[in-house]
Amino acid sequence: MEIPNLVFSVWVFSIYLCQCRNGVEGSHEVYRNLQSVETPQISIASTENRTGYHFQAPKNWINDPNGPMYYNGIYHLFYQYNPYGATWGNIVWAHSVSTDLINWTPLDLAIYPSKPFDINGCWSGSATILPGNKPVIMYTGIDKQNQQVQNVAFPKNLSDPHLEEWIKPDYNPLMAPTPANGINPSSFRDPTTAWLGPDGHWRVLVGSQMETRGMALLYRSKDFVHWVKAKDPLHSSNGTGMWECPDFYPVSENGMDGLDTSTMGKGIKHVLKVSLSVNKSGDYYTVGRYIHEKDLYVPDNTSADDATGLSYDYGRFYASKTFFDARKNRRVLWGWMNELDGEASDIAKGWSGIQSIPRAVWLDRNGQQLMQWPVEEVESLRGKQVSFHEQLLKKGDLLEVDGITASQADIEVTFHLPRLEEAEPFDPTWVNPQILCNQKGANVNGSIGPFGLMVLASDGLDEYTAVFFRIFKGQDKPVVLMCSDQSRSTLREEVDKTTYGGFVEVDLRYGKLSLRNLIDRSVVESFGGGGRTCITARVYPTLAAGGKAHLYAFNRGTEAVRISKLNAWSMRTPRMN
Ligand code: FRU
Repeated sequence: MEIPNLVFSVWVFSIYLCQCRNGVEGSHEVYRNLQSVETPQISIASTENRTGYHFQAPKNWINDPNGPMYYNGIYHLFYQYNPYGATWGNIVWAHSVSTDLINWTPLDLAIYPSKPFDINGCWSGSATILPGNKPVIMYTGIDKQNQQVQNVAFPKNLSDPHLEEWIKPDYNPLMAPTPANGINPSSFRDPTTAWLGPDGHWRVLVGSQMETRGMALLYRSKDFVHWVKAKDPLHSSNGTGMWECPDFYPVSENGMDGLDTSTMGKGIKHVLKVSLSVNKSGDYYTVGRYIHEKDLYVPDNTSADDATGLSYDYGRFYASKTFFDARKNRRVLWGWMNELDGEASDIAKGWSGIQSIPRAVWLDRNGQQLMQWPVEEVESLRGKQVSFHEQLLKKGDLLEVDGITASQADIEVTFHLPRLEEAEPFDPTWVNPQILCNQKGANVNGSIGPFGLMVLASDGLDEYTAVFFRIFKGQDKPVVLMCSDQSRSTLREEVDKTTYGGFVEVDLRYGKLSLRNLIDRSVVESFGGGGRTCITARVYPTLAAGGKAHLYAFNRGTEAVRISKLNAWSMRTPRMN
């Protein structure tokens, strides 16, 4: 692959990294001494922990999904990539295309340091389709003074169906920190997809912070060339720190269809998502109203406007981005899932990071939270199937789901909970679901629950990841806790085995509760209550790897629960870069 100025840029970038902080928050560690460590020739990229159907690069480090779009029949995914190693550094935009969001073909690097306005790195950004069907990418460049600035790039040749080459006009950068605007040059990044207001002006958000107040700075433009910063941010929240990778989009109040980012009007709410690294790093969002006459976003006060609020995913899922998929009239979400087995292991295996299975997102009927579900195309990978119906799980039961490839599988199960009145009382001081899941792990017996699935389990259960529910009796309705317990997921000591948890706002009137799991060797994506609460875990089984993995349904509550139906499929491996 020809990367004309990249070698020079890498050199400049390494010098820069020796001299100053790079401005990236705690979301990914920056190992300066490893900036230019080459991936070993003999990589162990084929180990059994390498995922089979999640988006990944053939080798090296990847982080944020960038500029996802659907254009003329093709899905594009760009992503933050280090061409020289398996740790963060030398960041460029790698590029892949697909016709189904599942099989991916790699292309040459799309955007890499080559100009004074991005010579020290090409960081995250978004794509917008301009009138006349012309895509444009806006991204953060690290300029020659190591400031974060916003640039645009256009496809060189619109008749190339892959949009392989991108051109950066010389009028870049479009937005830069100056003494007059007071923007901190290392907290100014990750522009959103732009939207067009009824006044004919484009708007875009850029993530920033002032002291500890995180904010989404708003810029307006008539021509996509000259941009003016609005006096007030679209929204900000104190104590939240840097807002990385903001995402702002409309959702319909009447159904699951997605909307183009510029859609406004009746029957529409808006979602503002930001990636936060204070306390627990993650992607947090609010649902609210966009008052476009004033260019202000006002979140509903139904959830907190910080890292104690709603999250797309209560496990490992960061720097996500959505796009409007005009092909299927849906909004699709991508998120980055990092490794948790340490940088030494990343270097040894020669790769680090995957992207989630893309998820359709829409507003829940209650208008207060989002729903998420793996795009239907992932079902095309389903192979051998096993099913159960009406299977009782009594206290202590462990039911093996045999006959599929348990290390690479898709499972959908619906539980029926017969005696909700037997649930233990919920203590209203239990406000943090993650702490609750830590205290009440898969081995702590309750009355209704823990029940759920044990995935990537070894013979004899020395290793397993438990994804389960526990039901409590709340003030006026049952409280549903969903946990992903990794404490026994691997014998390897260096792996981060944090247990994750979230509450599930689900109606249990008919006693039904569903769980879907996408298991892929070192990742377990879990969707509770039809996609109301999602938790992703990265796990590194040793005894339960590959062909040695087992899958079980279990119940460790005193009350029996019934599996009304369970379908599990082996998952095939698509063409993956
Ligand atoms: C989020 C992030 C972005 C930045 C990019 C750099 O993970 O820190 O804010 O643009 O990664 O790779």
